[in-house]
Amino acid sequence: MTTIADFPEVASSIHINAFQAALGAEVHGLDLSQPLSERDFSRIHRAHLDHHVLVFREQRITPQQQIDFSRRFGKLQVHVLRQFQLSGHPEILVVSNIKENGQPIGLGDAGHFWHSDLSYKELPSLGSLLHAQELPAEGGDTLFANMHLAWETLPDYLKRTVEGLTAEHSYVTKYAELQRRSPWRPNLTEQQIAEVKPVTHPVVRTHPETGRKALFISEHFTPRIVGLPEDESRELLDTLFAHSVKPEHIYRHQWQKHDLVFWDNRSLMHLAAGCPEQQRRKLYRTTIEGDAPF
Ligand code: SIN
Repeated sequence: MTTIADFPEVASSIHINAFQAALGAEVHGLDLSQPLSERDFSRIHRAHLDHHVLVFREQRITPQQQIDFSRRFGKLQVHVLRQFQLSGHPEILVVSNIKENGQPIGLGDAGHFWHSDLSYKELPSLGSLLHAQELPAEGGDTLFANMHLAWETLPDYLKRTVEGLTAEHSYVTKYAELQRRSPWRPNLTEQQIAEVKPVTHPVVRTHPETGRKALFISEHFTPRIVGLPEDESRELLDTLFAHSVKPEHIYRHQWQKHDLVFWDNRSLMHLAAGCPEQQRRKLYRTTIEGDAPF
């Protein structure tokens, strides 16, 4: 006998409205403080693959509820900067410019260069979730670039040049520069450096679930293309970075109170636009482990 459960899109209260942009959609009708049914999970999973960024408004969830929702999509990763874990919740990285008693409570300059989260790991992040805790009155937006579009719109001669190449990804690529620019970067211990040894990944990766190709290099974590002379590698990377972040590939997220934003690091790069120094900004981030890029 056919039941309503055979037609999940009819039975579900979820609505997904795609943005008029290169990516992204808003999800309505879901309260993430409640357990997610298998049916709703399937819809969110599908929407995440289709739109790459999902925005859930008005989510009054606890850190544990953010962790529980994130875990539905895979194992969670713990950031190398243990200093900025949320107390009692190592899976949450505090992204914040706030100082308490003169000490930073979180990573204040997270995302100040375009990147895909944890691309410097053998198993980079599948996706990340940011939950707004405190927002500045001005600025603080997050920008996302669609790396499938970046690949698909690349001139043919560049596609031929980069297909089959690999690039190095390294956590420390911009670390010294960030340390000079801001107070948020502690010196790394030997153990932390050992945890983030450089890795290589294909410059063009295939999304493991959709089969779509995407450029997989970033300003923050990709210092060089393997096997090319330094100047050629630099020039090619600069060309690819500039092409990737053309306005027609971008969605700019303007945060609202209690937003939870869930993006696909296999399809996107992102950038924190920053806000005036004196304005407080705090978000909680979880990251989900993905597959080895191919
Ligand atoms: C990040 O790169 O994960 C942080 C993005 C943001 O703070 O907007």
